[in-house]
Amino acid sequence: MNTRTSHLTPRPGIMRISPYVGGRSALGGQQNVIRLASNEAALGPSPRAIAAYAAHGDSLHRYPDGGAGDLRAALGALHKLDGERIVCGTGSDELLQLLTKAYAGPGDEVLYSRHGFLVYQLAALAAGATPVAAPETDLRADIDALLAHVTEKTRIVFLANPNNPTGSYLPRGELRRLWNGLPENILLVIDSAYAEFVMADDYEAGAELAERAKNVVMARTFSKIYGLAALRLGWCYASEEVIDVLNRVRGPFNVTGPALAAGLAAVADQEHVDKARRHNDKWLRRLAGECAKIGLETLPSVGNFMLLRFAAGGARDAKAADAFLTARGILARNVDSYHLPDCLRVSIGLDHEMDALLDALKEFMA
Ligand SMILES: Cc1ncc(COP(=O)(O)O)c(C=O)c1O
Repeated sequence: MNTRTSHLTPRPGIMRISPYVGGRSALGGQQNVIRLASNEAALGPSPRAIAAYAAHGDSLHRYPDGGAGDLRAALGALHKLDGERIVCGTGSDELLQLLTKAYAGPGDEVLYSRHGFLVYQLAALAAGATPVAAPETDLRADIDALLAHVTEKTRIVFLANPNNPTGSYLPRGELRRLWNGLPENILLVIDSAYAEFVMADDYEAGAELAERAKNVVMARTFSKIYGLAALRLGWCYASEEVIDVLNRVRGPFNVTGPALAAGLAAVADQEHVDKARRHNDKWLRRLAGECAKIGLETLPSVGNFMLLRFAAGGARDAKAADAFLTARGILARNVDSYHLPDCLRVSIGLDHEMDALLDALKEFMA
């Protein structure tokens, strides 16, 4: 019997996807908007990356190196990893999507934590798999809860470390405990998009685990500390088996030439990375300290963003704060879709942008 319908029908799950809504980037007609809604790089990219990008203008008629050989070698040298076990992608987002489609499908479950990065749920649905969210404790991934939600059907566990939007992270020991508790046929994807910002001694981006475990992937991006979000460039490190799978399912030229050129120059400029890290660290501390003085709760963060928690309901709730900031040309991120209706997420911006944010918050809280 032909069970097909007579009209175009996407695979089950697709219509359950609510298209991803990013942070606002503009305010109708207003100049000088302060964009703190998308965890973009405060300092922007290295001037060397911008120059490499511009220089690539002469080669736009050439196909890029589909294997991203030079960039993989540079990343391998920088992180002391085998460049053969790296795959580059159109943002780490592409790699997260490809991994999900390659390892999960209808009838399978994809597990992540309740306030985890939204893309995991979207990727699971796009693959026809069932997204499963485990509860968190104090806005932090809870290893016991994650392991308790593993079933026969679980194919992938996603963990953002640090997590967006909470800013929390799991230390090395907890990461190991998660991996130890997972059967070998489940892929653990450690999404370390914000790894370069983390100063904590007990933090591990996941490379050590991915180095020795066949079922671990570490995903990284050039969108955050490297400031190349517009170019869409990410990479991941995994076992030969997983890399082989990714190389089969990715597009032959999935990363553009300008992105490869800029990425290579960005990797070579670690001074710029250090400068960005120091700027971020200074403002993470200052923002938390200044907010405490005005009675505004902040959640501890090791990323380039922070959650501000407002009193629920009433004149000083998160919605009122969002409107107040917007009226002053400051764009924060509403995190309702992350089940955090009392919070706003703000990225760490430039000095004058952070001063403007603090002035506005002081006025709001007064
Ligand atoms: C945790 C996390 N992972 C991945 C990404 C996606 O980064 P990319 O720009 O490389 O696709 C983001 C972007 O905000 C993120 O917050």
